[in-house]
Amino acid sequence: MTEVQVSGLTKKYGAKAALHELDLTIESGQFVTLLGPSGCGKTTTLRCLAGLERPTSGRIVMGDRVVVDTARRTFVPADKRRVGMVFQSYALWPHLNVTDNVAYPLKVARMAGRERAQRVQEMLDAVDLSDLGKRPVTALSGGQQQRVALARALAARPGIIFYDEPLSNLDSKLRYQMGQQVRSLHNRFETTSVYVTHDQEEAITLSDRIIVMSEGVIVQSGTPSDLYDRPNSAYVADFMGFQNILPGTVTGVHGKTAEVRVDGTSLVFSGITTGDVSVGDRADIAFRAAHARLSPGGSGSGRFRGTVERTTYLGSAVNLLVRADGLPMRVRTETAELAAESVPTAGEEHTFAVSPDRAVVIPHENAAPADDDYLTTMTDAAVAPR
Ligand SMILES: Nc1ncnc2c1ncn2[C@@H]1O[C@H](COP(=O)(O)OP(=O)(O)OP(=O)(O)O)[C@@H](O)[C@H]1O
Ligand SMILES: [Mg+2]
Repeated sequence: MTEVQVSGLTKKYGAKAALHELDLTIESGQFVTLLGPSGCGKTTTLRCLAGLERPTSGRIVMGDRVVVDTARRTFVPADKRRVGMVFQSYALWPHLNVTDNVAYPLKVARMAGRERAQRVQEMLDAVDLSDLGKRPVTALSGGQQQRVALARALAARPGIIFYDEPLSNLDSKLRYQMGQQVRSLHNRFETTSVYVTHDQEEAITLSDRIIVMSEGVIVQSGTPSDLYDRPNSAYVADFMGFQNILPGTVTGVHGKTAEVRVDGTSLVFSGITTGDVSVGDRADIAFRAAHARLSPGGSGSGRFRGTVERTTYLGSAVNLLVRADGLPMRVRTETAELAAESVPTAGEEHTFAVSPDRAVVIPHENAAPADDDYLTTMTDAAVAPR
C-alpha cells in the first residue's frame, strides 16, 4: 500500500495548462476516484502519477520516494515506480496468450519460473479466468480481456494501481459486476487505487474518496456521501445529479439553517442546513428530482404548486417537468409509491414538497449566475436517473 503526496502539480501543453497547481494526498490503502467531465485533466493527472507524463512543475512523493521534483530535476520513469495500470483499451499484448500477458510483468521483475507460474495461476483464479490461460487474448470477450488486464496489473503486487476508465467499453450490467470485482481485488490485495471515471454512480459505489475536477483544478473532494449530499458548488451539484439548481437570495439564517427565496418567484425554502451564509447573500438552492414529493393540500416552505408540462415514463418511475411560478422544476415520482390513477399527467396542477434536509444551499461565491439562460441549459434528459 503506497501513500501519494502531490504538490503544485502543473502540466502545460504549449501555453495551455491541462493541470494547474494541483495539491492532493492519497492515503495508503484508499480507493480514490478522480471524477469530472471530458477534458478536465483526469488522464493527465493519472499519467503524471504513473510516470507516463513529465509534469511541467511540481512534486510527487510515493511512499518514501520522491518520484517527481521538477525543482531538482528528479523524474523516476514509469517502470521504476512499482505501479500497476489498467486502461480503457485493455492494452494487452495481442501476440501473447492469457498466461503470458499476466506473466510478463513478473518476468520483467525477474521472478523465478516456478513462483511465477504459481502467481499467474493465483491471479487468474482471482479474476475467474482459471481455465483460459492458454487462450489467445484476441479470442476473449471485452469483459474477459479487462479481467486479464486486472490480473496483469496486480500480478507483481504493486503498492498502487491506476485505472483510466477501465469499464467504459463494457455494457452497463457487466460494468457494475466488474466494478465490484475491481473493488474486491483492491481489498484483497491491499493496494492503493486511483481510479478515473466520468460516471458519478461508479465513483460513488466504488470509492473511499472522490476528487471532483474541473479544467485542471480540484473543485471538491470528500467521501461519496459528502459529495452526494453536500456539494459545495453548482458545478459539483449538477455533476452529482441535482436536477434542480435555482438561483436565489438568503432571506433568513437561524443557527445552522437558512431560508432562501428563489429569484423572481414566491418560492421559499427554509430550515436548510448550511455552512457560512448571511442574510442578503446570493445563493443557489439545489435539490434532486427524486426529493420533491407529491404533497396534496397544505402550504408553506419548500412547497410549490405547478402545472405538469411533460411526463417521461420510466417504468419504475415517472419524471415530470413542472412549471411553478414560471420556473421549470424536475420531479421524479416512484410508481411503487402511488396508485396508478394518482400518477400525475400532463396538464394537471399539483402541489409538491421538498424536504429541507434533502435540499442544499450553495453559497454565493459558488452560485449560478443570476440569469435566465442558466435554467434553460438544464435539459430534460437530466431528470433521468444517472
Ligand atoms: N498530448 C496532448 N497534447 C496537447 N493537449 C493535450 C494532450 N493531452 C491532453 N491534452 C489536453 O489537456 C486537457 C486535459 O486532458 P485529459 O486527457 O487529461 O482529460 P480527461 O479528463 O482525461 O478527459 P476524458 O474524460 O475525455 O478522457 C484537455 O484539454 C486535452 O485536450
Ligand atoms: Mg481521460
